[in-house]
This record gives sequence, C-alpha cells and structure tokens, in this order.
Amino acid sequence: MNPNKALWEKGDFTRIAESMRESGGALAKRFGITQGLKVLDLGCGDGTTALPAAKLGADVLGVDIASNLVAAGNARARSHGLANCRFQEGDASNLQDLHDQSFDLVMSIFGAMFAPKPFDVAKEMVRVARRGGRIEMGNWIPNDPTLIAQLLKISSTYTPPPPEGFVSPMTWGVESNVIERFVAAGVAAERISFARETFTFNLADSPSAFVERFTTYYGPTMNAFDAAQKDGRGDDLVSELEELFNEHNASAIKGATSIPATFLRVTVRV
Ligand SMILES: C[S@@+](CC[C@H](N)C(=O)[O-])C[C@H]1O[C@@H](n2cnc3c(N)ncnc32)[C@H](O)[C@@H]1O
Repeated sequence: MNPNKALWEKGDFTRIAESMRESGGALAKRFGITQGLKVLDLGCGDGTTALPAAKLGADVLGVDIASNLVAAGNARARSHGLANCRFQEGDASNLQDLHDQSFDLVMSIFGAMFAPKPFDVAKEMVRVARRGGRIEMGNWIPNDPTLIAQLLKISSTYTPPPPEGFVSPMTWGVESNVIERFVAAGVAAERISFARETFTFNLADSPSAFVERFTTYYGPTMNAFDAAQKDGRGDDLVSELEELFNEHNASAIKGATSIPATFLRVTVRV
C-alpha cells in the first residue's frame, strides 16, 4: 500500500474539515472564481474549497488520494445539489488521468503539499493548467508559531523518524523551495507571488474535544499518538496539544473553539 495514501485513509479527515468550512468558503471567494471557470482542486479532501468554488459557478473537479474522502466529497456535492462538482481519486505527483492545459485554475489548499516528490507535483500542476491560467496553493509554514505548524511539529517529535530521502511537506511553506520547484517546471520566477494569509478553524466544542478529533481522525496526529502510546507518552502528547489549542483559542464563547493559523498563499501565473 502507498504510505501517503494509507496515511490519509487511516483516519477520517471529514471530522477536521467540519471546522474549516467558513475559511474554506472565504478563501474560494478570494480566488476570483467566475461562472464556468474550469477548476481543479488538488488534495481536495471532502470539498472544503471545491464546493464553495462550485457554488460560485465554476466547473470543479476535486482530486484526492484518499478514496474515503473522494466518496465523502461526492456525497456532499450531491447533497448540496451541485452537478458541477465531482471528485475522483488521483495522486498529485502523477495526474495521469488529466489532460494537458485542461484547467483555468488549479488550486490546492493544504493538499498537494502532502504529496511526495514535490518537483513532480509542481510539474503536474503546471502541465494541467491552461497557459494564461493560474495555480493557487495554500501551504503551512515551517516553524510558524500558529496552530498547524506547531501541531505538526509537536506530532513529529513523537513519531519515528521518516525514511531516508523523505521531503517534509512543510518545505512547501518556504518561498525559495516553491520558486525552485515551479522554475524547474518551466515557470519564470517573476510569475510566482506570495502572501501570508489566515485560515481559521471553528468548532462548536472545546479545545480539548478538538484535540481529541486530531488524535482520533487526523492521520499525522494519529500516527504520533499511536507511537506515543507505545512509548507510554500518549498523555504527554495530549497535554502538549491541549496547551497549544487552549493558548491559541480566540473564541469568546465558552465551550467553543476558534483558532486562526497563518499560511503561505502561493499564486503562479502560468
Ligand atoms: C490537510 S488535508 C486538506 C484537504 C482539503 N484541501 C481541505 O482544505 O479541507 C490534505 C489532503 O491532501 C490529500 N493528499 C495527500 N497526499 C496526496 C496526494 N499525493 N495526491 C492527492 N491528494 C493528496 C489528503 O488525502 C487530504 O485530503
């Protein structure tokens, strides 16, 4: 089994994505989506940005490596009556089922960054984007003090070291790496731009309940929690995460969670 696929099929990312709907919708609105625009959402999960893009009138294909999330995305599109939004399985490192230059906008929000072989990922995104089109990525930033960078950092300290040659997904949050990858895919460096933006996770439940969702349903944290439990350190991991989530919780409502996280927005004019 492909370990990248196994990681994301292991849990149920829909239980995290429930906290991402508002910011996902707001982000799709910032992408200037117009009626009939052909959009690929890569590493789309259950459609956090794909469904809002389709609601704005785009013709959306969501591609994700996890079959459970593809099924969840198709079910959500059906339940929202969106015939212009469909999901299929695929690997961002090799989009063999997709034709050259077939999308006006290729977006990937915290998605393609998790695929192995980042140079192949950049090449594939450029290949399937129409000349004159655009790529938009949202990538977490290594060592950023906000939620997800810290969650992944803490999780990695409890997880066995990755295999030799593994390239950290967080390298997609470093501008020089992003430039190197898209330049290797044939894009001029001046066509790549960056901005730091905020994505807020909202849950009508406590920070501790949110941590429990991550240890129960989010592949990377599940793996860290499994490894920590084997070492008798499961409680340490949970208390470190609870401290992090409580510290970053900005909700004024007792028993609710609202946590902003900074990400690197990458825009590539193809
Ligand atoms: C953090 S989730 C983000 C999902 C979605 N974009 C969202 O914002 O809700 C990462 C997603 O990337 C997908 N993914 C990881 N590796 C992938 C790959 N090689 N090709 C396609 N999707 C991948 C996972 O299955 C998962 O759905």
